[in-house]
Amino acid sequence: MKQLSLDRRIQSLFPVVLASLLVIGTARLVIDKLKSNHSFAFRLNERPRGEKHRIPLVVSPEDRINGSCNVFEGKWVWDNVSYPLYTEESCPYLVKQVTCQRNGRPDSFYKNWRWQPHGCNLPRFDPSKLLQILRGKRIMFVGDSVQRSQFESLVCMVQSVIPEGKKSLERIPPRKIFKIQEFDLSIEYYWAPFIVESVSDHPTNHTVLKRLVKLDSISNHGKHWEGVDVLVFESYVWWKYKPTINATYGNPDDVEEYNVTTAYRLALQTWANWLESSINPNTQKVFFMSMSPTHLWSWEWKPGSNENCFNESYPIQGPFWGTGSSLEIMDIVHETLQDLKMNVTLLNITQLSEYRKDAHTTIYGERKGKLLTKEMRSDPKNFADCIHWCLPGVPDTWNEILYAYLLKSHQNLL
Ligand SMILES: *[C@@H]1O[C@H](CO)[C@@H](O)[C@H](O)[C@H]1NC(C)=O
Ligand SMILES: *[C@@H]1O[C@H](CO)[C@@H](O)[C@H](O)[C@H]1NC(C)=O
Ligand SMILES: *[C@@H]1O[C@H](CO)[C@@H](O)[C@H](O)[C@H]1NC(C)=O
Ligand SMILES: *[C@@H]1O[C@H](CO)[C@@H](O)[C@H](O)[C@H]1NC(C)=O
Ligand SMILES: *[C@@H]1O[C@H](CO)[C@@H](O)[C@H](O)[C@H]1NC(C)=O
Ligand SMILES: *[C@@H]1O[C@H](CO)[C@@H](O)[C@H](O)[C@H]1NC(C)=O
Ligand SMILES: *[C@@H]1O[C@H](CO)[C@@H](O)[C@H](O)[C@H]1NC(C)=O
Ligand SMILES: *[C@@H]1O[C@H](CO)[C@@H](O)[C@H](O)[C@H]1NC(C)=O
Repeated sequence: MKQLSLDRRIQSLFPVVLASLLVIGTARLVIDKLKSNHSFAFRLNERPRGEKHRIPLVVSPEDRINGSCNVFEGKWVWDNVSYPLYTEESCPYLVKQVTCQRNGRPDSFYKNWRWQPHGCNLPRFDPSKLLQILRGKRIMFVGDSVQRSQFESLVCMVQSVIPEGKKSLERIPPRKIFKIQEFDLSIEYYWAPFIVESVSDHPTNHTVLKRLVKLDSISNHGKHWEGVDVLVFESYVWWKYKPTINATYGNPDDVEEYNVTTAYRLALQTWANWLESSINPNTQKVFFMSMSPTHLWSWEWKPGSNENCFNESYPIQGPFWGTGSSLEIMDIVHETLQDLKMNVTLLNITQLSEYRKDAHTTIYGERKGKLLTKEMRSDPKNFADCIHWCLPGVPDTWNEILYAYLLKSHQNLL
């Protein structure tokens, strides 16, 4: 590993770090499965009573982001009054992987930054409004372990307004389902690291090293996504293990090595075809999260240094784009969405997250389902996780933006 951190050829460096980190996802789901019996509080099987108390949400003009405002361009401003939106202690649904403070992270500035778009303000997050918008609905996050933290973040952002016993987290791998009975709604997560089918889909038994992606197959996943009111997709980091990837297209026995960009384009095309045949754009909304950046090489923001995101306490000021975020992949996403016959909203969170070199779990996360040992912690160069994010943290902002879009498209019934 040592000579690798000196090696600046990105494609060969990226993978090694990734290989050891992505298995977290595996272990995590195994553990969750074991724990699931204890946290299952109730079963939701009937419509809630008390419909008469339902008050339709009226979104005020200042809560509606302007069509002309690009909320993805802006800066991080210090705000320790309004942020964080929740705490590690107040949210029992966070997995150990993301609770950086509890895991020993000494600094906590990373929790106190607010994203300020240049041209407008994001609406102030109000859990009650979001619950009203989502009443009677299902929202589902589909993707890898980064996407799972966005799911957890949203759960934590809303759960505080619901009393004990009126909410539950159920784990049915590859799904996690958070239910709020009173609102007849669920916030869900679905493990599909490549979106299309792959040998990595088994929730508890998959390896990062042996990957085989079925570029033209999606229906086994898709049947679980049908009818979901709000779908939020994401897939990036698993593709970035090597410049090529083993995949099939057509004949399932005909395995070939594809360029990752070629494979990604074919996979998204399969996804796009699924959307067009399975989604009703009048009743369902679809979002796609742009790639979540990594901060694996400190020389990118601190020339001459040779470390990673460990011991970083402040966001990057000013222009920054890391080499780990492929604009080629960004273009493929953009083109795929443009060619669709329906609207899918791209939430372009890459740039705003690029600034947040300070917000990763580093040595205060998990590896293979366990907190790092003392020995590992003393070697952050090899063991810091610069892919996943602490919670509360950056994924909360992704959800504030998602919230802004949901408010924007909400039709007031007057
Ligand atoms: C939208 O932007 C325009 C021009 O910047 C501004 O005049 C208007 O007040 C904005 N509307 C809202 C609701 O922010
Ligand atoms: C918030 O930040 C300001 C400015 O850095 C600081 O003076 C103040 O003590 C902080 N307040 C809290 C509650 O941390
Ligand atoms: C995991 O998968 C591999 C190959 O797909 C299989 O050989 C092995 O038996 C599986 N292990 C478990 C515990 O299911
Ligand atoms: C593809 O599979 C072959 C045979 O298992 C293996 O030798 C090769 O390294 C794999 N390629 C990649 C990019 O993983
Ligand atoms: C794969 O990518 C490389 C470099 O980007 C390119 O030279 C090569 O032609 C590509 N191969 C295919 C089959 O697209
Ligand atoms: C972390 O950074 C500070 C200065 O920014 C430095 O004094 C300290 O030694 C660093 N700690 C480690 C463990 O690298
Ligand atoms: C997303 O944002 C980045 C940085 O601002 C930009 O370079 C890229 O073109 C955007 N992507 C799309 C599809 O708009
Ligand atoms: C997509 O949304 C835009 C504006 O929000 C609308 O004008 C357009 O008709 C929509 N396209 C489709 C195919 O629904």
